[in-house]
Amino acid sequence: MKGVKAFLIYTAIVFAVSVAYFIYVYTLYSPVPERETYLSEIGGGFGEVGLWALLFIYGRSLLKILLGKGTLAKRLLPGYSPTVDSPLIYRVLGILNRTHAYVGIATIAVILLHIFMMGMPMKILFFPAVLVLLIWQGAFGMFLKWHYTPKELRKFSYLVHAQFITGVTIGIFSYFGHLLIDD
Ligand code: HEM
Repeated sequence: MKGVKAFLIYTAIVFAVSVAYFIYVYTLYSPVPERETYLSEIGGGFGEVGLWALLFIYGRSLLKILLGKGTLAKRLLPGYSPTVDSPLIYRVLGILNRTHAYVGIATIAVILLHIFMMGMPMKILFFPAVLVLLIWQGAFGMFLKWHYTPKELRKFSYLVHAQFITGVTIGIFSYFGHLLIDD
């Protein structure tokens, strides 16, 4: 339970800092109008696809945790050993594992398209932060996949890539960032 507790504390801190920054920007800047152009219409669709893709990616992580597979499960719930004997679930997980890197690259591409087509206001720091976190997730994912990655870098990449906290931060920052635009 220590891992879960640390995760919840981290989430609460990111949430509190984001609320404080949201209030700061809300009171300081005039609201950023949502652009209604042809490009931003399509860009909006990419944003929706990106959100579902992220949910899909973290769905795989959740499934792995429920099945007690991978270091994320061992870190968050040490000592937990489920007894699932459905071959179908393991087959689905196998497919998700083999396709994760491609789904990951596609997700990053779609969200980058969303960001650039919408013309995100980078002075609202939520947006550059999300951009950096996405590139971070993609770069260390690449290092994990690349055949020639040195052993130490691979270990570090696993540590920083196989994380829920990056996803939670992306989610919270994107949510509050969008609140500042849509109004
Ligand atoms: C937004 C993009 C991405 C997110 C949110 C993401 C998230 C995650 C998470 C949470 C894990 C660990 C838990 C789990 O296994 O599910 C993981 C594992 C992994 N990721 Fe990613 N990832 C992304 C993109 C990528 C990319 C672009 C690559 C490679 C090109 C990649 C390669 C890997 C590998 C090799 C593993 C470890 C092996 C495995 O569990 O399948 N990821 N990813």
